[in-house]
Amino acid sequence: MSVYLELNQVNKTINGESIVKNVSIGVDSGQYAILTGPSGSGKSSVLRMASGIDKPDNGDVLIDNINLSNIHIKDKKRIIAKYVGLVLQHPGLDRGLDVWSNIILPAESKGEKINKDKVDYLVDLLEIKDKIYLNSGKLSGGEQIRVSIVRALAVNTIRLFLADEPTNHLDTERKKIIFNYIAKITKEFNIAALIVTHDSVFARENANIEYTMIDGEITKKNLFFQN
Ligand SMILES: Nc1ncnc2c1ncn2[C@@H]1O[C@H](COP(=O)(O)OP(=O)(O)OP(=O)(O)O)[C@@H](O)[C@H]1O
Ligand SMILES: [Mg+2]
Repeated sequence: MSVYLELNQVNKTINGESIVKNVSIGVDSGQYAILTGPSGSGKSSVLRMASGIDKPDNGDVLIDNINLSNIHIKDKKRIIAKYVGLVLQHPGLDRGLDVWSNIILPAESKGEKINKDKVDYLVDLLEIKDKIYLNSGKLSGGEQIRVSIVRALAVNTIRLFLADEPTNHLDTERKKIIFNYIAKITKEFNIAALIVTHDSVFARENANIEYTMIDGEITKKNLFFQN
């Protein structure tokens, strides 16, 4: 195992308010980490910096030992498109397109190849197969999240899966399924996963590591020993 995602002493201030303070976390390939903590503690801010879409004021974000601050923006975009799958709190699907197009087009427009077998497998597992040619504007909130999970993992080369409360709108049974699945793919595809969640009871059943944030700081690191 190697540390695939690393944040070192990361800080972020917005409007004069320090929202992320000296955050250092790591996630290995094949490992599934959760990030928990009260509302407003800075979890989404950390996730956005881990994904490269936001820049820290200082400190380093490394993906596969590459420091995102030290490379050209073009290279950074390429790394993100190829290796990082991101699920945000608001999935932002194109409501004018059907589910299938929403899954494949973002990656294809960046020149990345989709693994169609993997997409079929995920669509089946997340029970959105019968919605595949439906207009995305007609999906429920939970269905939109599940489509955005498939979209994030559709590219064959994905090595880092980041998700911001991916189980928010799901029922208990589906929350369990999603967390089980995240654990499964991290192992099967040797992916590093960092999941921001309030559903820590279900998330802990499979997680390898839990980081807890309070007021912008990591206050606790818990290691779990799963089979
Ligand atoms: N663009 C922004 N402008 C102003 N304040 C911001 C901005 N983004 C985040 N914040 C503030 O930073 C703090 C941390 O926000 P963040 O969204 O990271 O918290 P969170 O832990 O994800 O909360 P939640 O569990 O409610 O999603 C909050 O106080 C929030 O108001
Ligand atoms: Mg948040």
